[in-house]
Amino acid sequence: MMRTRPLKVALLGCGVVGSEVARIMTTHADDLAARIGAPVELAGVAVRRPDKVRGGIDPALITTDATALVKRGDIDVVVEVIGGIEPARALITTAFEHGASVVSANKALLAQDGATLYAAAEQHGQDLYYEAAVAGAIPLIRPLRESLAGDKINRVMGIVNGTTNFILDKMDSTGAGYQEALDEATALGYAEADPTADVEGFDAAAKAAILAGIAFHTRVRLDDVYREGMTEVTAADFASARQMGCTIKLLAICERAADGESVTARVHPAMIPLSHPLASVREAYNAVFVEAEAAGQLMFYGPGAGGSPTASAVLGDVVAVCRNRLNEATGPGESAYTQLPVSPMGDVVTRYHISLDVADKPGVLAQVATVFAEHGVSIDTVRQHGRQDGGGEASLVVVTHRAPDAALSGTVEALRKLDTVRGVASIMRVEGE
Ligand code: HSE
Repeated sequence: MMRTRPLKVALLGCGVVGSEVARIMTTHADDLAARIGAPVELAGVAVRRPDKVRGGIDPALITTDATALVKRGDIDVVVEVIGGIEPARALITTAFEHGASVVSANKALLAQDGATLYAAAEQHGQDLYYEAAVAGAIPLIRPLRESLAGDKINRVMGIVNGTTNFILDKMDSTGAGYQEALDEATALGYAEADPTADVEGFDAAAKAAILAGIAFHTRVRLDDVYREGMTEVTAADFASARQMGCTIKLLAICERAADGESVTARVHPAMIPLSHPLASVREAYNAVFVEAEAAGQLMFYGPGAGGSPTASAVLGDVVAVCRNRLNEATGPGESAYTQLPVSPMGDVVTRYHISLDVADKPGVLAQVATVFAEHGVSIDTVRQHGRQDGGGEASLVVVTHRAPDAALSGTVEALRKLDTVRGVASIMRVEGE
């Protein structure tokens, strides 16, 4: 039976995502009410610039006092789409203290201090939902937290940043260099004026921390995630990747160690075989590949950013939280019972593609192979191309078997010291095999 008293939603932030949340709440009000079992009403919208015209939103709902809004006491759900650490954290914890549940899209805050938010939610008997914080519209947090709660997840590997996927896809499909592809991404509105958070991997690292924490039931913070951006990827790297039947993606990879005693989380560019499902994720799309013990391999794919897609994820959470409230229940809280340590990057075991500029003379290949052997890194394939410029140099491309990252770093350091190695042109991890 439909309850007539509406559930009240307060919106913190009315930008690209917030305005779409408000629009869909209004236009789909009847459907949302039917699905929840009670009407849901926009009770207030906190903004920084109250003078901006916001079509479809009653001006009487607009306020600049977000703190007063979350303290009202009659709010059921606070939707936080302002981002950043503060004032978002203070507003969310204040909302819990005043009897509201929270739906947030704030990946930075969840990755940096999710534990504080979870603790406050639990203390006050409220829900904390955040489907929109990772991979926009793609249902991923709820499948990991709920649908796969009976399984054991061993690996989560994904493309969780659309801007960088767009740039890498352009480089791959057109042969463009990084700067040219970035310029196109900026012109088309995919990249922000300051693209640092995306291209240096900070955005993806925050998402990796959140995914690893949920997947492995342990606390993983942003600082635990190894991070390399993709600004150094070159057209030559793509040419090398193609020769190996691979492409290059910026991947977020969360893994349980083989002995099950620790986990790792990392973000870096990597070659993946064209046959891997993530290789066919084009343009600004996101996709996350999950490997679970019983379920096997699962792939989640879709738009990872943008107003409407992100609002879809937010509203799914609003519906879930409202249903919980009507049932006087709460959904899943923090699950960090395993308390597994997060190992450093040096412990990660993977394969490597290393491109060296070497002197083209007898004994060089043997010298290089010896350095790999001394560091316990086994070589899978070697390709050598003599240069046609008469400079007596050759390009040597070595692909290794799986080895610890620390062993590879030691190998590269030693290679750089060889007189016959003129330069290390690129080092790229090889994943997904
Ligand atoms: N800037 C992100 C991306 C979207 O390009 O995917 C928000 O996380």
